[in-house]
Amino acid sequence: MSSPFVRTPHPAPTPEARRAEILTAPGFGRYFTDHMVTIRWSAAQGWHDAEVKPYGPMTFDPASMVLHYGQEIFEGLKAYRQPDGSIASFRPEANATRFRGSAARLAMAELPEELFLGSISELLAVDHEWVPAAGGEDSLYLRPFMLATEVGLGVRPSAEYLYALIASPAGPYFSGDLKPVDVWLSTEYTRSALGGTGIAKCGGNYAASLLPQAQGAEHGCAQVAYLDAEERTWIDEMGSNNLFFVFGSGDDAEVVTPSLTGSILAGVTRDSLLVLAKELGCQVTERRVSGQEWLEGAADGRISEVFGCGTAAVITPIGGVKHAGGEVTIGGGETGPITAKLRALLTDIQRGTGADTHSWMRTLHPA
Ligand SMILES: Cc1ncc(COP(=O)(O)O)c(C=O)c1O
Repeated sequence: MSSPFVRTPHPAPTPEARRAEILTAPGFGRYFTDHMVTIRWSAAQGWHDAEVKPYGPMTFDPASMVLHYGQEIFEGLKAYRQPDGSIASFRPEANATRFRGSAARLAMAELPEELFLGSISELLAVDHEWVPAAGGEDSLYLRPFMLATEVGLGVRPSAEYLYALIASPAGPYFSGDLKPVDVWLSTEYTRSALGGTGIAKCGGNYAASLLPQAQGAEHGCAQVAYLDAEERTWIDEMGSNNLFFVFGSGDDAEVVTPSLTGSILAGVTRDSLLVLAKELGCQVTERRVSGQEWLEGAADGRISEVFGCGTAAVITPIGGVKHAGGEVTIGGGETGPITAKLRALLTDIQRGTGADTHSWMRTLHPA
């Protein structure tokens, strides 16, 4: 079958010297590649008008439904330059599946997995030079998203959607050593309730996290950890990371993460770390962890390490947890050995320097 994507090359792509300059210190989400992908959906035509075209502004009717009722979803994944020069992504089909799940929860059209994956290959075909060199921590961050474009103010599912894919070179999350961050345990705000949208990656979840995030920042915290909405007892996750707790140490270490109860986003990194932690020889448990267990366990040393995980930083060590009633240091405020080992194992697989024994990597552009 011929590609359904129509390619319109950028008439004046970023000069090579400028791109090289950007790639020396790309930061995160500051620069974008020369092209983007768009695909439209309508009830009458299904998925159509798949295009690769110059990156640029989009125009919307002021009554487009997304602008009023927030029918919008997104994904986040990365393209990594491999040692042989090819470009691969980590379990992108898991993101494709989650994108469909998010669409279903928001009553939106579901993009078939092959179009999701095809859109990434298409973008890399024209913008592959934007993928940073192998050997470092840099990558090309891919941001697929979809929004409701039907014009009208009725509160109902849109009959038209726009899927788009943009890409942004991303530098290392940690410059230098893995530095533990402090986390704010919010007892005032929640992220998601059972039956809500926490299992979906929709923009509204992140809009609602900005106020608690600012509150956490006032206390010097990099992220916010949330309790469940029903009992305000059980740890759910953070604003953009799942959470892991290490009980004990050495041969007796048990790696625990909150079970997917219906309000937590099922992270691809979380799922992969459950596998790798078992291979490291740790006992691995998915169960409920209460906020109290976290605070007491960190204080009396039963909990030796805590970390957040997600595509952006892979693993973020957590050195302390603060809350309205005080603060507790975890593992002496240092990055623990299991945190560091798991991070190295996963990043080695992603960079193509570690054995991909689970066939997690997908080549999306040849060498
Ligand atoms: C709320 C939330 N939880 C967890 C994650 C981690 O998910 P993943 O490992 O798939 O990036 C993310 C980031 O995507 C997130 O936004």
